Amino acid sequence: MKKTLLLSLSALLCLTANAEKVELSTPHNTLVLDLWKGGEPKFVYYGEKLSTSDLASLPEPTNANWSHLEIYPAYGATHTQSETAFAMRHADGNLSTQLLVENWTKTSISDKAPNGANRTGERLTITLKDPLYPNIVHLYYQAYNDVDMIECWTDVTNSEKATVTLTQFYSSCLPIRRGNVYAHHFHGSWASEAQLTAEPLNNGILEIKNKDGLRNATTDRQEVMFSLDGYGRENEGDVIGAALMYSGNYRITIDTDDTEYHYYFAGINPDNSEYHLKKGETLTTPHVAYTFTHEGLSGASRNYHRWARKYQLRHGDQARDILLNSWEGVYFDINQQGMDQMMADIASMGGELFVMDDGWFGDKYPRNTDNSSLGDWVVDKRKLPEGIEGLLRDAKKNGVKFGIWIEPEMSNTTSELYEQHPDWILKAPGREPVLGRGGTQVVLDLANPKVQDFVFSIVDNLLSKYPNIAYIKWDANAPVMNHGSQYLSKEDQSHLYIAYHEGLIKVCQRIRDKYPDVVIQDCASGGGRANYALLPYFDEFWVSDDTDALQRVFMQWGTSYFFPAIAMASHISATPNHQTFRTTAFKFRCDVAMSGRLGMEIQPKNMTDEEKMIGKQAIADYKRIRPVVQFGDLYRLHSPYEGDNLASLMYVSELKDKAVFYWYKLETFVNQHFPRIKMAGLDPQRRYVVHELNRIDNQPLPYEGKTFTGQYLMANGLEVPYSHDVDYHKKNDWASRVLYLEAE
Ligand code: GLA
Repeated sequence: MKKTLLLSLSALLCLTANAEKVELSTPHNTLVLDLWKGGEPKFVYYGEKLSTSDLASLPEPTNANWSHLEIYPAYGATHTQSETAFAMRHADGNLSTQLLVENWTKTSISDKAPNGANRTGERLTITLKDPLYPNIVHLYYQAYNDVDMIECWTDVTNSEKATVTLTQFYSSCLPIRRGNVYAHHFHGSWASEAQLTAEPLNNGILEIKNKDGLRNATTDRQEVMFSLDGYGRENEGDVIGAALMYSGNYRITIDTDDTEYHYYFAGINPDNSEYHLKKGETLTTPHVAYTFTHEGLSGASRNYHRWARKYQLRHGDQARDILLNSWEGVYFDINQQGMDQMMADIASMGGELFVMDDGWFGDKYPRNTDNSSLGDWVVDKRKLPEGIEGLLRDAKKNGVKFGIWIEPEMSNTTSELYEQHPDWILKAPGREPVLGRGGTQVVLDLANPKVQDFVFSIVDNLLSKYPNIAYIKWDANAPVMNHGSQYLSKEDQSHLYIAYHEGLIKVCQRIRDKYPDVVIQDCASGGGRANYALLPYFDEFWVSDDTDALQRVFMQWGTSYFFPAIAMASHISATPNHQTFRTTAFKFRCDVAMSGRLGMEIQPKNMTDEEKMIGKQAIADYKRIRPVVQFGDLYRLHSPYEGDNLASLMYVSELKDKAVFYWYKLETFVNQHFPRIKMAGLDPQRRYVVHELNRIDNQPLPYEGKTFTGQYLMANGLEVPYSHDVDYHKKNDWASRVLYLEAE
């Protein structure tokens, strides 16, 4: 959690103790705070970029201690009844804290973003101090020069004579003006991630949290969009986005009290995590990334996507390969010949990468099902007599890259690792460990530096021995099931959750320092780790273990609010689907997967010739549109959550010279009626030629090859037939379209 920011402070612009209104801006956003030496730091404004004259005319904020709008209220001295961002027990037992402005600095920054990219911006550092105690709290607000994002975080240093205990330590607090504010947020569970919920903010508290310990995106997600003027619209309306960037337990509290504001607090979940800060130690919180837009929910998504591709996602500027993953095709039934066949099949369809999933390892205990062997990362020579060398040779022969699955933070009680290091697992003192997946899975204690070394060595051994491994799928399939670190002292057991994630980030950083190029997928029982603390070390994440195309329309819709398509692994799988047992048309499965990072998760040898043909065409078509999908701007057009059985979205290239439009029918009824979907994001003046991709119809669409202005397409859209014009025996109840638009 403690981030080392390679700061090169190029200019110290100002340092003042008397100024009141302090402004920080991105290209289109401005944040204004009221900083007054000896007063609490207060919020003045966050929204559209302010002109110098409007900024100057903003009313003078009040500075009386009892007024509201604090941006980091601390518990106990002046705030006892309202929600607070910070609370501690001082060394002398005092539970009250008062955080008043000492001074502030605004500096230009030019440093490395978490994903290694160079970035520039401006940082406001506010130093707060309690008049009674020597401790220092810093609030940081960092604005980017080229994307509309302001990141905020906090650190606290104990300067008292003895250890203090932090009981609440949010990263940030943002007041949001009452009006008709809706919070759009995402809840879910395994195989049903990122379900959109939109609710009006009313008096009282809305709390969003996760206490899984590891997979903090499986259930509620830590990102919220606030639509300021009613239920959010996709392409118009004022929206504030707030994304907490943490990989562990978090809590978001949105408090609507008896004033004119809602108060958004976000940070590490303090439940069972009180933090003992020794004399001289500093705790740094995770960041929160804020954006503001007039362009609706999709506009806020575009801001996050641009920021993510540039600064948060590993290799966010490099196109992703089209892959076949072995999991749903063969599950644990891994063998040399089978892998070779799958590589040959994906290569013949135009794929670029093959990923061998679970089941390849274990010597004393072969990994034939999920009840053993995690931790024993040696090739099972009974299944793969020629080892990874043989697989890499076959990959080369077939002309595809090779990737491999690992679950490095875990073990099973049936494993050589557990036999050798029973003290490496998380376990409540004096109790038997609670066991997870397969009835034997346990979590390794990443608070322990020896475990950190071990986890690093799993990746290091693979990549140093086999530098041609191009891709790693890093999985994590268990929560913290009982509370106890065998490494941490008995006094610091409450540090477990925080120390685990510090350990995890340290390992990830070590891996990236040594292996900057390898592609790594972040997976945790599906989409359990879609978060911006880990993504700087990962290239993408597995959206969900549910590959059913219909449910994916909903999950990918929700996931797209904060995460770009380039990071959303989306695979074509078999029917009946292995999670929902639904049978969808093969084309529908292709069309849905093609709106994210396309891959396959199927046994190709069981595909019909027709499916292979459509799959091959889809892969060829995806290669044409890949730059638009993976680097373009997203416009969500018609939500599947509207409940009228239709969903539509599109991507537009940055230059607005290319676009891809997707249309999905979600249910079939005779004589049903759908709205005609207007496009968005095009250049009204330009003329676009329309081509249908993945076409299965006997006759082309009436506008195939025809040209329309962006103006027309955005004002009217195009009629999309509700069913496919195919021979009688091929008819089914699914319909979907992908249209490619190229400017003349
Ligand atoms: C998890 C992942 C799946 C697959 C299995 C393997 O469930 O989400 O994609 O890798 O583990 O055991």
